[in-house]
Amino acid sequence: MPNAYISGTGGYVPPRVVTNDDLVQQYGIDTSHEWINRRTGINQRHYAEPGVGTAELGEKAARLALESAGLEPQDMDMILLATLSPDYCFPGSGVLMQRRLGLCDGPKARFVPAMDIRNQCSGFLYGMGTATSMVQSGACKHVLLVGAETHSAAIDLSTAGRTVSTLFGDGAGAVIVSATDEDRGIRGWWLGADGRGAEVLCQHVWNISKRPFIPVDENGVGQVQPEEMFAHMEGKRVFRAAVERMCEAVLTACTAQGITGEDVDLWCFHQANMRINQYVAKTLGIPDDKLIHNIDRYGNTTAATIPLLLDEAARGGRLQRGMKVAMVAFGSGYTWGSVICDW
Ligand code: ACO
Repeated sequence: MPNAYISGTGGYVPPRVVTNDDLVQQYGIDTSHEWINRRTGINQRHYAEPGVGTAELGEKAARLALESAGLEPQDMDMILLATLSPDYCFPGSGVLMQRRLGLCDGPKARFVPAMDIRNQCSGFLYGMGTATSMVQSGACKHVLLVGAETHSAAIDLSTAGRTVSTLFGDGAGAVIVSATDEDRGIRGWWLGADGRGAEVLCQHVWNISKRPFIPVDENGVGQVQPEEMFAHMEGKRVFRAAVERMCEAVLTACTAQGITGEDVDLWCFHQANMRINQYVAKTLGIPDDKLIHNIDRYGNTTAATIPLLLDEAARGGRLQRGMKVAMVAFGSGYTWGSVICDW
């Protein structure tokens, strides 16, 4: 059985920076830099321009990951795209990204499988589990795995939506998971879910139990109320569940690998709230200098968060060959996961 390793990384955030002060001044939200920074550690986030969607952000990150791996889109045997903000309800953004990468054109067309993963902030780690299995089984030599989000289009940028909207930013991260005979790569992945928390953090704009799924007025025009159009979150419940499940995910991974936290060189935690990560790190005795962050600059970029962290660490020289890397995430669903990788 081959090992599966990360042969390339890429990351992209759209150029427009929106600071906490911009949320007050440009959008008129009753909030403050002090409130957001103290509760979450966020200083700014990036928003894509109208007309730009998730597959486009994902394509940009994917091309950078392919370049760093020295591979072409046509070398990929499968595409996985993790997102909670897909371009359309269906089809998934994976096929749109496949098309954008030129895989459907000309004599070099490759109609490889393209699959969306809908596991929110844990989506990238669910993707890592899937990509690793595909490579280790021999089904694929190279899998393109992308996490991409265009949150700015679907958050309530008014005071009514501030608890959720101030947290999120747009961006995309990508990795190539490749086969190798070398003794390195993804050592294991552990995923979990608890559907009892499904409605604690959710967006109900599409509700297929209704007839029709979106209420219509007398003229047949769909009517979506703000509470259904935008995400709903019980922040304190999510915070508590995140701390518990992330601690559990770390302990599960370390126990399965027969390692302790001290054996890990770099920790990549999902970035939903700096306070969650500080709490988990303190509980488990993980030193600050082994934790990397991007929430201050990007906010919560959901499925894009961990690949963006990996890409910055790899390009910045922080992540070196032979290091043991732990990735941990928790998100809506509830869903969570951890991955241990020898870089
Ligand atoms: N600016 C100013 N005031 C605000 C803001 C804001 N941005 N947001 C909320 N408030 C106000 C509320 O309206 C409330 O006011 P009130 O007391 O007058 O009603 C007060 O602040 C307290 O609100 P809470 O929601 O109780 O604030 P809390 O201390 O819980 O912090 C936060 C909110 C930061 C969102 C926190 O709950 C949190 O981080 N939760 C976890 C988020 C998370 O992990 N999400 C999971 C991943 S996301 C995914 O999977 C898609």
